[in-house]
Amino acid sequence: MIYSEKVMDHFRNPRNVGKIEDADGEGEVGNPVCGDIMNITIAVDDADTITDCKFQTLGCGAAIATSSIVTELVKGRNIQDAVKLSKQDVADELDGLPAVKMHCSVLATDGLKVAIDDYLKKHGREPLSGEIKSADPNFDPHGEEESAEGEDD
Ligand code: FES
Repeated sequence: MIYSEKVMDHFRNPRNVGKIEDADGEGEVGNPVCGDIMNITIAVDDADTITDCKFQTLGCGAAIATSSIVTELVKGRNIQDAVKLSKQDVADELDGLPAVKMHCSVLATDGLKVAIDDYLKKHGREPLSGEIKSADPNFDPHGEEESAEGEDD
């Protein structure tokens, strides 16, 4: 399996690893099949801009690299904009991911969406992202990969 240099860089030197104390929003998603677990915490200011984002991922190299780049991509973005980040956006930023590893980027974007919805719910606001499949413990993104090839999100 060939990974881009950018994937290898983010895997070897992941950015923004850790957990924000007293985070404004927190998301945790997982894949029961491969066992990857991802936790993302965000700090959000009064204008709904993400000012900080950290992650902890127990999982494969692609899961770590996609989590790392997501934390970089969303800092300074408004939550309405950040919630639209797709797995394809993440893969493009990493100069591509092998097809069999695309599901790993779903965990990164879903973790972010759960964190944004958590922030909104804490403020009595409506969630933005609808159903988050990987927040369901029975979700199998590997299985979805076969049936939904080419889908953007
Ligand atoms: S192997 Fe990375 S999420 Fe499945």
